[in-house]
Parts: sequence; structure tokens; C-alpha cells
Amino acid sequence: MAKTISFHLQKGGVGKTTISGTLACQSALDGYSTLLVDVDPQGNASSWFLKEAPQYELADVVQGRCYIQDAIIPIPQIQNMSLLPTFGIGGTLKLYAETKLAEEPFVLQDLVHEVSDSFDRIILDLSPGLGRLERAALISSDEVITPMTPEVFSLDGLEIFIDELARLKKNLRSTVSHSKIIINSFDNRIKQHRDIYNAACKGVFTVYKIPVDPLFRKAQEAGYAPQLFKARGRGLKESTVGAIKTLNKDIWR
Ligand SMILES: Nc1ncnc2c1ncn2[C@@H]1O[C@H](COP(=O)(O)OP(=O)(O)O)[C@@H](O)[C@H]1O
Ligand SMILES: [Mg+2]
Repeated sequence: MAKTISFHLQKGGVGKTTISGTLACQSALDGYSTLLVDVDPQGNASSWFLKEAPQYELADVVQGRCYIQDAIIPIPQIQNMSLLPTFGIGGTLKLYAETKLAEEPFVLQDLVHEVSDSFDRIILDLSPGLGRLERAALISSDEVITPMTPEVFSLDGLEIFIDELARLKKNLRSTVSHSKIIINSFDNRIKQHRDIYNAACKGVFTVYKIPVDPLFRKAQEAGYAPQLFKARGRGLKESTVGAIKTLNKDIWR
């Protein structure tokens, strides 16, 4: 049975896709068969890893238009890594979420169960917000980890998410755990970043840091795993590689 993890905060631009994709790559590079599911109607994770539009996508699977096996695509640059894509420009997942998902809130949970014997690890990349689609993804997960950027409002966003998640767990009988947060794009030279990290550490969460590293964006633009990409001869910073490995070791325990 694969463990399933989502990365979520209702805010956009905090690194959900970057962290989901990078950890899926890391997990696959470590030899674990890993599935990244693109649950974001914008399809950012898919346009990161795919060179062309897929034949089938997540929206086709949930609507019974194809078998799940037909929609899962192996990522050629990384052995052991597969993607269940969403083709953002098509807008079909968004339409499905708005029109049909309310009648079948457990559709993603069923889908995860269907593939959980075929993979060691499953990562769900979610869109911002906390609508039906994000709820369906959260209740399909064993664990949700919250990425946030070191900004003043981030801790407020976390409080809101904690409340919403508690309600969701009660209403939909979910047992998803939430005990880790990631301060992403962290720069130790900036006092505010250090202050926010220290404030986060005072709470009940285990807190991780991922340094600010321009290579993430460059690797995404080039369609590569950050761990395998070099721009002008330079790869990820050593501190970034260390942070990714530490996080990846801890989350799958
Ligand atoms: N640690 C980081 N250092 C530098 N840039 C980052 C880092 N994490 C994410 N980014 C960049 O920030 C932007 C938003 O990240 P993204 O993962 O798309 O956020 P989300 O999925 O939460 O909307 C992207 O351009 C991404 O390359
Ligand atoms: Mg995203």
C-alpha cells in the first residue's frame, strides 16, 4: 500500500507544485516507484514534466473515459517516476469539479486506492483554495504537509487551514494527519525569515526549511527535475539538496 501525501495551503505561490514535483523526483531517484498526481486544474506540474499534451488526463479517469493505467505517463528522465497529468489549457478538470464532483466526493480516494498497490509512494499536487477538488484530494491522503513562504500573513493562513482541515476531517470522517510545515524560499540573511521560522517552531508542528534557490524556476522552465538540472554549470545549492533529502527521508516514515 502506497503512502499518499498532499502539499497544501489555500494560498498560491507558496511552493506546492515545486515541492510536490521535487520530492516526487527525489523519491524516484532514491529508487521508490512514485506517482505524482496533478490535481491542479491549471496543470502546472504536468507542463513542468511533459513536453506535449497528454492523450488522457486525470479528468478523463474520474469521468470513466479511460482506464487509470491509460492516463499514467512514465517520466522518461527519471526511472521510477510517473505522472497522472492534468492538461491545464483544456479546463476539463475545473469543469468536472464545478459540475460533477459534488455528487462523488470520494472519487479521488477511490482512484488512489486503485493504484496504491502499483506504487510505493503517491504525491498529490493541489491548487490554491479549499474547494471541492482540494477537499477530495485531502481526504484521499494519509498526510498533508503545509508549505508556506516566510511572509507576515503566512502564519495566519496556516491558522485558517488548520480550522478548515478540522472541519473537513469531522464532516468527511477523514484521518489525514497534519504535523509538518515547510518554510519555503527561506533566506537566512533576512531577519523576517528567521523570525517567522522561529515563531513557527514554537507551535506544535515539525518545521522544515527549503532555501530560496533560483534553480527551481530554471529547472521548471526547462522541463527538468531540479536535482538533474544545471544552469551555466551550476545545479541546486548544496543546502537545497540537503534540505530536500532531509525532508524526503522524514515524510515517508
Ligand atoms: N525554494 C524556492 N526558491 C526559489 N523559487 C522558488 C522556490 N520554491 C518555489 N519557487 C518558485 O516560486 C514560484 C511559485 O511556486 P509554485 O511551486 O508554483 O507555487 P504554488 O504551487 O504553491 O502556487 C515558481 O516560479 C517557483 O519556481
Ligand atoms: Mg501549484
